Amino acid sequence: MKALLRESFYLSLLLYLCSIQQSFGATDTITTTQFLRDGDANISSTGGTFEMGFFSPDNSENRYVGMWYKNISVQTVVWVANREAPLTNRSGILKVIKPGLLVLVNGTNNVLWSTNTSRSVQNPVAQLLDSGNFVVKEAGDNNPGNILWQSFDHPTDTLLAGMKLGRNFVNGREVYLSSWKNEEDPAPGDYTYHCDPSGYPQTIVKKGSDVVYSSGPWNGRYFSGTQNSREGSFYTYGVYSSTPEVYFVYKLTSLVLVRLTLSHNGVLQIWILGDRKGWVPLVLIPADKCDMYNLCGAYGSCNSQDSPVCGCLDKFVPKNSDAWNRTEWSGGCVRRTEPNCLQKDMFLKYSHIKLPDTRNSWSNVTMTLEECKNICSKNCSCMAYSNSDIRNGGSGCLLWFEDLLDIRKGPSGGQDIYIRLAASESDSLEQSGEKKGNVLFWILPLSAGVILVFLSLLIYHRRRKKALELKKNGCGGNYKMDYNSGNCAEEFEIPLFALSTIAKATNNFSIDRRIGEGGFGPVYKGILEGKEIAVKRLSRTSTQGENEFKNEVVYIVKLQHRNLVKILGCCIEGEEKMLIYEYLPNGSLDSFIFDDTQSKVLDWPKRFHIINGIARGLMYLHQDSQLRIIHRDLKANNILLDKDMNPKISDFGLAKICEEDDIGAKTDRVVGTYGYLSPEYALHGKYSVKSDVFSFGILILEIVSGQSNRKFSHPDHSLNLLAHAWKLNKEGRSTEILDEHLGDSCSTPEVERSICVGLLCVQQCPEDRPSMSSVVMMLNNEGVLPQAKRPGFYIERDAPDGELYAQSQTPITILAAR
Ligand SMILES: *[C@@H]1O[C@H](CO)[C@@H](O)[C@H](O)[C@H]1NC(C)=O
Ligand SMILES: *[C@@H]1O[C@H](CO)[C@@H](O)[C@H](O)[C@H]1NC(C)=O
Ligand SMILES: *[C@@H]1O[C@H](CO)[C@@H](O)[C@H](O)[C@H]1NC(C)=O
Repeated sequence: MKALLRESFYLSLLLYLCSIQQSFGATDTITTTQFLRDGDANISSTGGTFEMGFFSPDNSENRYVGMWYKNISVQTVVWVANREAPLTNRSGILKVIKPGLLVLVNGTNNVLWSTNTSRSVQNPVAQLLDSGNFVVKEAGDNNPGNILWQSFDHPTDTLLAGMKLGRNFVNGREVYLSSWKNEEDPAPGDYTYHCDPSGYPQTIVKKGSDVVYSSGPWNGRYFSGTQNSREGSFYTYGVYSSTPEVYFVYKLTSLVLVRLTLSHNGVLQIWILGDRKGWVPLVLIPADKCDMYNLCGAYGSCNSQDSPVCGCLDKFVPKNSDAWNRTEWSGGCVRRTEPNCLQKDMFLKYSHIKLPDTRNSWSNVTMTLEECKNICSKNCSCMAYSNSDIRNGGSGCLLWFEDLLDIRKGPSGGQDIYIRLAASESDSLEQSGEKKGNVLFWILPLSAGVILVFLSLLIYHRRRKKALELKKNGCGGNYKMDYNSGNCAEEFEIPLFALSTIAKATNNFSIDRRIGEGGFGPVYKGILEGKEIAVKRLSRTSTQGENEFKNEVVYIVKLQHRNLVKILGCCIEGEEKMLIYEYLPNGSLDSFIFDDTQSKVLDWPKRFHIINGIARGLMYLHQDSQLRIIHRDLKANNILLDKDMNPKISDFGLAKICEEDDIGAKTDRVVGTYGYLSPEYALHGKYSVKSDVFSFGILILEIVSGQSNRKFSHPDHSLNLLAHAWKLNKEGRSTEILDEHLGDSCSTPEVERSICVGLLCVQQCPEDRPSMSSVVMMLNNEGVLPQAKRPGFYIERDAPDGELYAQSQTPITILAAR
C-alpha cells in the first residue's frame, strides 16, 4: 500500500513536472496558473514564427520581456513589453491575473509593468498569435472583437505585417511606432512614426514634436513622395480610411518575412529576410536630402538630381535671395506676381510633384477635378488643388489653404497639382518671362495653340480608329483581359498596339532601326507618340498560341521592379508577337565594360551599384511568389543602363514565353549564350534558378575585370576567366584581376567581396551556389564569406571542352545532348 502511494506520488510529481515543461516549451499561452519566468523556456507562436521570453539587448545587463523571430540566427526583437521599466536581475515573472491583466513582477513581487483593460473576464489567458500579436482574452474566446488587450495596439519600433498604424476615432487611440533610445536601450527614443489623418492621410516621422519626414499624401496607389519604394511583390500596402478609423497597413504576399522599423536615429527601413540568415534592407528613408521635411521652404521645390537641390517652383522667386544664395532655403519662395483674388486668378498645372504637406488641407473624395477647381477659385485663401486619388484617371479633391510646404519634384512619379497664380502669369506661360512686348511673343503661343488643337484632334481620331479596330475583336480601347480565361475582363489591363502602329514607329522594321539581337529575337528602336520605345519581335521563336502568349504577357507586365526594364505593352497579330519596352538611352552594359574608352565612365562605385542592382532585379524574378521567373539568358548585353547608369535587366520572362517546360524541367532546346551557360544547362539541358546564379557570377567577374568571359585570354596560361579568377583568389591575389581603368576609385573590401561572391555563384555544383537573396545579403554585409569551390567549366582553352567557348559569338539555340 505504502509503495503504491509512493508510486502514485512520484507519478503525479512526474506529471506535474511534465506539465510545467510542456507549458513553457511548446505552448503559445500564459494562463493564471502558468507563468513565464526568466530562465524558463520561451513561449512560441502557434505557427512557430515568433517567440517570447526574457532577453538582454547587446551590451546591456537589463532584462526585458520581448518578442523576436524564432529560428533566425540573428536575434531580431520586434516588441518589448517593459521598455521603460527594465529588470535588473533574473527574477522577473510575467503573469496573467484577473480581471484580465498582464503583469510583470520582480523577485519581491513589485509590479514593474502591466497592461490595462476596461472589461473583466472569468478566465483570462495571454496568447502569442503567429502574426506576432500578443493578446489577452477570455480562454476559448476566439472572437477578435472580444480581445481585452493586444500588443499590436502598443508597438515599439517595429511595424509587423497586419499591424494598423493610425488613429481610431471612437476610442481616440493612436497607434504609432517609437524608436529605441539607442541600440542598448529599448526605452522610447527621440523619433516616432505616425499615420497622420489630419487633412488627408500621410505618414510622418517626428523627432520630438518636429516633423522630420513626410511621405506625402496617400493617392490610392502609393504615398505621393515615395513612388520608388514599391519594391515588388513581397508585400502590398495601403491606407484605409473609414469613419471609425484611418490606418496604414501592409500585408505579406509571399512566404518571405518583411518588417518595417524605425531606428534610434530616425531611419525608416523595410527589411526582408533572405534565407533565414540575415535581413536585407529593401527601402531606406530618408533616401536623399530631399526627404528632409520642408528642406526648401514654402513653394520651394527639391530635386535631388539638381545641384543645389533646392529651387523655386516655376513662376516663383526666392523670398530672400541673399539667404537663398547662401543655401539657406528655409525662407522659401514667393510668387513673382502676387495674385489678386478680386480679379480672376489662374491655376497653373505642375507635374511630377510630391504633394505638399496635407496637415492644412481639406478633402472630399467624391468631387471631380472640375468641382475642385471651382471651390478653390471661389475662396481666396485656397492656394492649390489636386486629385486626391490618381487611380482611374483621377478623382477626389484636395485643397490647400496655407503656404505649400515640403514639395519635391522628380523626373517621374509624383502627381499633378494646380497652384494659384496671378492672372497676368498666363500671358507668359510659354516664355521664360523676359522680352515682353515682342510680337513673336504672341505669335508663338498662338500658333502652338493651333498646332496643339490640330494634334489632339489627330490623336483623338487615331485613338477612335484604334478603339474601333479593337472592338471588332471584342475588347475596349485598352486591352483588358482576365488572365485565367484569356477573355476580356476588368481584371487586368495591358495596352495592345496595332501592328501597323508598331511598323510605322519602327520605320517598317528597317535595318537601321535594329538596335540589338537577343536570344529571343531582334530588337528595334521606334518612336511612338513622341516617345522612344524598343520593340522586341518574337514572331519566330514563340511556339505558343495567342491566348497562352497573352496570358504570359499579362503576368510579365505585372513584374515591376526598378531593376527590370519596363514593358509598355504588346502587339499580337497573326504570326507576329511583339513586346514594347521603354527605351534606355545608355544601351547595354557590354558596350561600357568591354570598351577601352567607355569603361572609364564606370568607376568602381558605379560598377558596385550595377552589380547590386542586377542582383536585386534577379532576386525579385526568382523569389516573386507568384511567378518564379528564370531568366536563362542573363549576360552583359541584356543589362541595359538608364540615364543615371541604373542597371535594368531586359528579356526577363521570355524564357517562360518561348518554352513551355516547367521549372527544374529538362529541355532539349538550350536557349542562351555561350560564355554564360551553367555546365548542367549547357551539357544536360537542365536548368533551375541556380543556372541564372551561375550566369550572374560570370557577370560579376566580367564587371570587375572588364574582360569578356568568352574572349578572355592570358599571356601566361590558357585558363578561362573563371579559372583565372579562382586561381588568383586561392593565392590571395584576387584583386589582380581588376580592370586597369578602375584606378583608385576602388574600395578593396568591396572588390574582394564581389569577386568572392562571383566565385561562389559559378561553382560547379548547383546546390553549392547561393540563392540570389543570399547574394544580395553577402554583397551588402560584412560577414566572412566561405571559400568558393572549383568553378564549373574549369578548363583550359586547348582542352577539347574548351571548344564550348570558342564557338559562335552570337546567342544560339542548339540541340543539346540528352
Ligand atoms: C487604466 O485605464 C483606466 C481607464 O480606462 C485609467 O483610469 C487608469 O489610469 C489606467 N491605468 C493604467 C495603469 O494605465
Ligand atoms: C463632397 O462633394 C459632393 C459632391 O460635390 C457633395 O455632395 C458632398 O456633400 C461633399 N461632402 C462633403 C463632406 O463636403
Ligand atoms: C475659405 O476657406 C477657409 C478654410 O476652409 C474658411 O475658413 C473660409 O471661411 C473660406 N472663405 C470663404 C470666403 O468661403
